[in-house]
Amino acid sequence: MNNELSRAWLDRFKRHAQSLCESERLAFEQQISQVDWAQVAVLVQEHVLQTADTESYFDLSTLKPADFEPLPSSPSEHASWAAASEMGEEMLRRGEVGVVIVAGGQGSRLGFDGPKGTYPIGAISGFGLFYFHARKILAISRRYGVRVPLLVMTSPENEEATRIYFEEHGFFGLDPAQVRFFRQGQMPAVDRITGEPLFSAPDRLALSPDGHGGCLYAMARVDQSDGLSSLEWVEAMGVKTLFYYQVDNPMVHVADPAFLGLHARGQAEVSFKVVAKNAPQEKVGVVCTRADGRKLVIEYSDLPQDLALARNKSGQLAYRAGSIAVHIFQSEFLRRLASGNTRLPFHKALKKVPYCDFSGGEMVSPSEPNAVKFEAFIFDTLPMAERSVIVEADRTAEFEPLKNAEGPDSPDTVRAAMSLAAAKVLIEAGFTVELDSAGRPVQVIELDPVLADQPEVIRQKFPRGIGSGPFILIRE
Ligand code: UD1
Repeated sequence: MNNELSRAWLDRFKRHAQSLCESERLAFEQQISQVDWAQVAVLVQEHVLQTADTESYFDLSTLKPADFEPLPSSPSEHASWAAASEMGEEMLRRGEVGVVIVAGGQGSRLGFDGPKGTYPIGAISGFGLFYFHARKILAISRRYGVRVPLLVMTSPENEEATRIYFEEHGFFGLDPAQVRFFRQGQMPAVDRITGEPLFSAPDRLALSPDGHGGCLYAMARVDQSDGLSSLEWVEAMGVKTLFYYQVDNPMVHVADPAFLGLHARGQAEVSFKVVAKNAPQEKVGVVCTRADGRKLVIEYSDLPQDLALARNKSGQLAYRAGSIAVHIFQSEFLRRLASGNTRLPFHKALKKVPYCDFSGGEMVSPSEPNAVKFEAFIFDTLPMAERSVIVEADRTAEFEPLKNAEGPDSPDTVRAAMSLAAAKVLIEAGFTVELDSAGRPVQVIELDPVLADQPEVIRQKFPRGIGSGPFILIRE
């Protein structure tokens, strides 16, 4: 049946290709060849036509909240984290740590026309998210005397613009040789009722990125330019451990040594950072435990309401281990998964996808979700790990993602969080910073992450204090 369905599509595409001019036909055939149509047919059977059973990726009856390593509070916990931090620093010094930023998404909620990493989040400089990430990697590289390799996952749609952004900004001070872009795969969007693949133009299928889970396979794919996969490329530089995060959160404590040390101490294959959810409806995936003791993430949209609302004896949300999408992976673990038979499951999302209506010959911009998109999520690797470590993050210092154009998780909230973090650095460096009644800086402060651990350099730049102007930009 699946074969029948995919064969029928391919026959139809072949006939359609004949109606196109030579150049369009070649581009169209190239698009078709990139998709595993048999797999799409299975997904359509399961998720759209429902002629096959959809296996839930979790069993509610045996699910439990996951425990996590809380932030240290007692002197012994502080000592334990300090020891972990030393282990993490050693890993960095040995050059065993690389960084992966996933930046292939479309950022449709933000409504920004361009790669999300180029969104001008710098409140004063207007620099993009990539600037803040790259400068942190530069800071770590300098601190530990190594060139920390950076892998940036792009999509076919945004790869060129992403590369150009890095090039135009001199890779933000990084050595271009320490940065590698790799492209995630794409999946076709299908009609939510009929399951038929949609066209975004008469000669183009409506394809979209295959979810950040696609990075598992994209990192293992050999690039013709040097005959290496991205995993082989970082491993050739001595990397064993990858620090992974999403481009949307400029607050990430990149390559946090304590987190790296806790991961290593637990001999984990994968580790997750979590924050205690601030409300039942907060849009973060929740780390849970299965009957066999393995951990898994239930995405916010899949968490049943009664579990989201459930409280424990202390009155806290029971299912509160909210994933901030900051992970550590052993590269060997990723390689094993990518080369094995286990595929990450695809999740379906209902979306509004403009499409070409062949009967009327026109483009249609639907006002309601008309399509199903399929995405794989990297957090589905968690239950595949023999050992994992879940660690609490400091929400205010580490988590303020850019998701929406307005309201929560928007440029305003992200810039305020960045300004507060910069104010804390200044206060620690001995500066006087005026704070409002809520403890937020009155001035807008933007700090080059390279200087975050250089108080003496900042003091040299501002020998008479930061002054009282509305904007304080501190750059190297
Ligand atoms: C995501 C997580 C959620 C987590 C939250 C923390 C998913 C499905 N959910 O929610 O569990 O608690 O972040 O902020 O990810 N991306 C790609 N390629 C893709 C799709 C996404 O690189 O094909 C990247 C995007 O650039 C983006 C990030 O992944 O930075 C998050 O994707 P998004 O779909 O926005 O997930 P959220 O709903 O924000």
